[in-house]
Amino acid sequence: MSAVRMDGKALSAKVRGSILAETEKLKAQGVTPGLAVIIVGDDPASQIYVRNKEKACEECGFYSEKYALPAETTQEELLGLIAQLNVSPAVSGILCQMPVPPHISEEAVIAAIDAKKDVDAFHPVNVGKIMIGDFDFLPCTPAGVMELLDEYGVDPKGKECVVVGRSNIVGKPMSMLLLHRHGTVTICHSRTHDLAGVCRRADILVAAVGKAGFITPDMVKEGATVIDVGMNRNAEGKVCGDVDAAVMDKAAYMTPVPGGVGPMTITMLMKNTLKAAKLQHGIQD
Ligand code: GUN
Repeated sequence: MSAVRMDGKALSAKVRGSILAETEKLKAQGVTPGLAVIIVGDDPASQIYVRNKEKACEECGFYSEKYALPAETTQEELLGLIAQLNVSPAVSGILCQMPVPPHISEEAVIAAIDAKKDVDAFHPVNVGKIMIGDFDFLPCTPAGVMELLDEYGVDPKGKECVVVGRSNIVGKPMSMLLLHRHGTVTICHSRTHDLAGVCRRADILVAAVGKAGFITPDMVKEGATVIDVGMNRNAEGKVCGDVDAAVMDKAAYMTPVPGGVGPMTITMLMKNTLKAAKLQHGIQD
């Protein structure tokens, strides 16, 4: 049997529709959510992501500003721009597309963004809030995964949840969100012994590795929910995830790549921007 395809494109469209409706209400109160996106250098993948973020802003009725800076921009110049955006009333959220060129410290950039405008939820203050379960901003990719699980009625409560990958952007916050929802969470990484055996325990398996086809059918329990966060290119240049397509025949639910987690990530960024605008204007949910 083939798994149910968890359609992130369709769910994204639905959530963006509800964000737009809420934006219209906010605008009637004189508040327009605004997102400032900064990109340094000319990484082609980053350019596509940034374009998609601008498009999403338009769809949600937001104001947006884009700063495309040359690769030679100094850290001081970048931090200067962030300092201006931190105090700009038109800007509710600030996002600096990662990676930045090697002469700029990612940590310094993240720390410079006002935690109240940190719609990526990368700032140590927001990371700490996620850890204790009292947060304003949800980390975008893990939040998108949670919305997909909810949409398809997959409840992590009491389930074996295995997250493969321990990045600050996905693996670690993903594990926290599953834990907050009462999952029994295991985080795996490159040094995990018997990775296949641990993955086979999973009722919910989240792959965030960055290697095409890394999760093969022998690593998946029959009837599991498999979430593919990967965004890789195969030998033919085609976009593909971390999960081998043959897993479709073993899983009960699975996210496609493209069209699964990817669109949800940007939609969650929009949700955070809306939330930031409300928080900055003292508007309750
Ligand atoms: N680069 C890859 N993913 C992301 C993301 O979610 N946010 C930012 N700022 N940069 C990224």
